[in-house]
This record gives sequence, C-alpha cells and structure tokens, in this order.
Amino acid sequence: MSTDERTPARTGIFRTKSVEQSIRDTEEPEHALKKSLSAWDLTVFGVGVIIGTGIFVLTGKVAKENAGPATSLAFVVAGIVCALAALCYAEFASTVPVAGSAYTFAYASIGELPAWIIGWDLVLEFALGTAVVAVGWSGYVQSLMDNIGWHLPLVLQGPDVTGGTFDILAFLLVLVLTGVLVLGMQLSARITSIVVAIKVVVVLIVIVAGLFFVVGDNYKPFIPPASAPPGGGSDWTQPLIQLISGYAPTNFGVMGIFTAASVVFFAFIGFDVVATAAEETKLPQRDMPRGILGSLLICTFLYVAVALVVTGMQHYSELSVNAPLADAFKAVGHPFYAGVISFGAAIGLTTVCLILLLGQTRVFFAMSRDGLLPRFFSITHPRFKTPYRPTILLGVIIAIVAGFTSINELATLVNIGTLFAFVVVAAGVIVLRRTRPDLPRAFRTPWVPFLPILSIAASLWLMLNLPGETWFRFAVWMVIGFFVYFLYGRRHSRLNTEAP
Ligand code: ALA
Repeated sequence: MSTDERTPARTGIFRTKSVEQSIRDTEEPEHALKKSLSAWDLTVFGVGVIIGTGIFVLTGKVAKENAGPATSLAFVVAGIVCALAALCYAEFASTVPVAGSAYTFAYASIGELPAWIIGWDLVLEFALGTAVVAVGWSGYVQSLMDNIGWHLPLVLQGPDVTGGTFDILAFLLVLVLTGVLVLGMQLSARITSIVVAIKVVVVLIVIVAGLFFVVGDNYKPFIPPASAPPGGGSDWTQPLIQLISGYAPTNFGVMGIFTAASVVFFAFIGFDVVATAAEETKLPQRDMPRGILGSLLICTFLYVAVALVVTGMQHYSELSVNAPLADAFKAVGHPFYAGVISFGAAIGLTTVCLILLLGQTRVFFAMSRDGLLPRFFSITHPRFKTPYRPTILLGVIIAIVAGFTSINELATLVNIGTLFAFVVVAAGVIVLRRTRPDLPRAFRTPWVPFLPILSIAASLWLMLNLPGETWFRFAVWMVIGFFVYFLYGRRHSRLNTEAP
C-alpha cells in the first residue's frame, strides 16, 4: 500500500478515510463479512424491513388525527422524499460498498466528525426503530392471544397498557432475533424470505378484499378542512414549523398532509438499511441500486393502495389507532379477514425487527473497525463470520429498552434521525463528485447537484414538520455523541493511530 493512500486527505476532525482504504479494510480476514447477498436478497431484505409498524399501525392514527383520506397523499409525499434520498444512497452504496451505510459514505466524503455524527445518529435510528417495532409486534401477538382466550399477567403486557410495566414479548423477541443474527446472514436471509412473502400476501389481501367494501362517501371531504388540534396544541408537541412560524397550530388541511407525511415516513425506513449490507453483497455495483430502488417502489405502491382502501372502508374519524387494517374489516363485519391480517402483521413485524437490528449492529461494527468505538467490537466470529460482539451487546440493550418503553414518542425520534442521515448522504454525493470524480460509479445520481439539493430540502422540510420536543430529544442525543467522540473516538481513530 502506498503511503499516499493511507494518508488522510485532510487532518483533524475533517480528515477523510479514502474509499480505497474503506474497501481494503473489509478484506482483512479477521474483520471480513461473508459476501453472499444478491439483488433479489437485497430487495427481499428491503421489503422485509420497510413494510411494518408504519403501514400496519401508524396509518390509522395519522388518518384520524392529521390527514383523513388524504393520508394516501401523505404516503406519496413521504415516498417522494425517500425516492430522492434513494437516488443519492444508490450512488454512494455502489461506490463505497462497505458496511455502515451513510456513516461510511460520510467518512469517505465529508470527514471524520460528520461521519461520527451520522454513525451516532444511525445507532439511534436503528436501535429505537427495532424497539418500536418489537413493541408493535407484541401488541399484535397479544391481540391474537386474546382471541383464543390467553392473557398475559397485566404487569407483563408492557408500559402502553394501563397497569402494565414490562413488555415480556417484545423483550423476548429481540433476544431471539439477536441469536439468529449471531448465527449468520444465511440463516436470517432464508427466514426473512418466507416471512416477507406472508407479509406481502396479507397487504394484498387488505387491498383486494378491502376494495369490495369501499364507500365513496367516506372520501368526502378528501382533504378535511384545517381545524384547531385538541387542547389548543400550543406546546412542544406541535410541529416545529408551526412553533417557529408563529401560526396558530392546526390539524388537517394541506399542512396536515405534511404533518402526516413526517409521521408515516416511518413506514419507509428500511430502504437505507439495504445500503448497510453493501459489504455482504456479491456484486454491489450492480445489485445495490436495484435492491434499494426496487424495494422502495414496491412499498410506495402498496402503501398508497392500502391507505386509499382503508380510508374508503371506514370514515377516517372512526378508524382504530392500534390495529386499523384489521379493525376496518371487523367494522364491515368480516372478523375472519381481521384475524388473518393480525396474524400476518405479527409475523411480518419480526423481519422488520430483525433487519433493523442487523443494520444497527453493522453500523456499530463499522465504527468500531475504524477505531471510533473500541476495536474489541469489530472482531468477527471465527466460524459464523458475524460481528457477534456488538450484536449481543446491542441486542440485550435494545431488548431492555423495548421491554420498558412506550411506542409513541420513539417513532418520531427515529424519523428525525433518519431524515438527518438523508441530508448528510445527499451532501456527500455532491462532495464526493468534486473530491473524487475519478471513482468508478456503477450508479450515478441524475442531475447532480440539483437532485441532491432537492433531496436535502425535502428531508429538511419533513424534519420541520416533526414536533418541537422531538427536535429537543434529538439534540440531547447528538450532544452526548459529541462528548463520546472528543473523549474517545478522536484519539483512537485508525486515521489518528495509523497515519504516518
Ligand atoms: N418501515 C418500518 C416500519 O414501518 C420501520 O415498521
């Protein structure tokens, strides 16, 4: 290796790791992951993680409180924001095929501190996302158990239930999935394909069977007129854009569609996780863009269809908040379909949890391999070739968080973190085109820098539509991250310890 390649392009907190170095690190035997995934595996992975709590749970809440039948438009808005980001992700993922997603991209383009920030941010996204979905899964399983007359002791039903404390099912789910990941990608990919098939079939049942029960009157008005939120809504639970612009807070109306979009955005989280598996892909230059864009397109189509059908089956003001898809069928007198949908949802949410957990451990792994977190965590298992140490550590922590935490506020925190990652990736595309125009790019984002700039603006716009309190929590998490970086990562970084 030449000294030039090893030498960071810049020094200090903006030093970058060269793309060649990133790729070479993955080839060190004790830090290598197995390259076994194809474009099909990636698409299955994508659909497996994308369809989840967002469509199965948040649709009802958002239709009822923010957008009515126009929830379908909110999915279109969120889908467009994600498509713009996906075009940027695809270029990066096919240029820098290394575990760690936006973190790795930022390290190769903008610099170490921004990369650290984004990695720290992704840890939040994936860890809390896993916990949110595990709790949602537990709710569906408990509802199925209730159908056949089994009831958990109240204290073990979870903090979302009055009188409940610890969600034993969510806790156990995360522990079991941690075990699956430690055993290796191959096993988890096989389980994932079967479960994804069940989930997609259930969503198609909702769309096709539900069409027969759509009543045109339920779509009137399609965009409900703006109205004051319950309790006046003048506090930090209102979207930041309303707080800073000084307008009286409103629900519904055109602004309600954007508020709804910033929440249902959660339903799209996951296509970026496909990028985290780049290092385990056989032909990343060709397969990553296909996997990312393919899974996103399929999901957007399904979401818009589901939102239209469900708000057509029941008036939006009557939709259920906990299990809207299943309960819409109960409302039209078809409990059998409701049971099938609940069953499919419970099964489907397992893969979402699994893949979010996978993304989380891979980001942690990449940060540790670079020395920004202790290197102890980046030694892979000699036999399974998986990063078993961070998988076990984080799995246990997430299991405990899922057991003790309520689902509601976590989802918006996950959204703000993910949107922030989109901003960094889009900026990274522009920067890397300038600093490394020579790199081979199997997939090129069209209309650079116009499209990445549009992607940044769109992501920021959705962030502004999230509650003020979410911004506050996000800021606290990031401040903690700064401390960790300046007290540990900066000194232990491989760019610091190994630079000549
Ligand atoms: N997109 C995933 C979900 O909706 C995270 O649950």
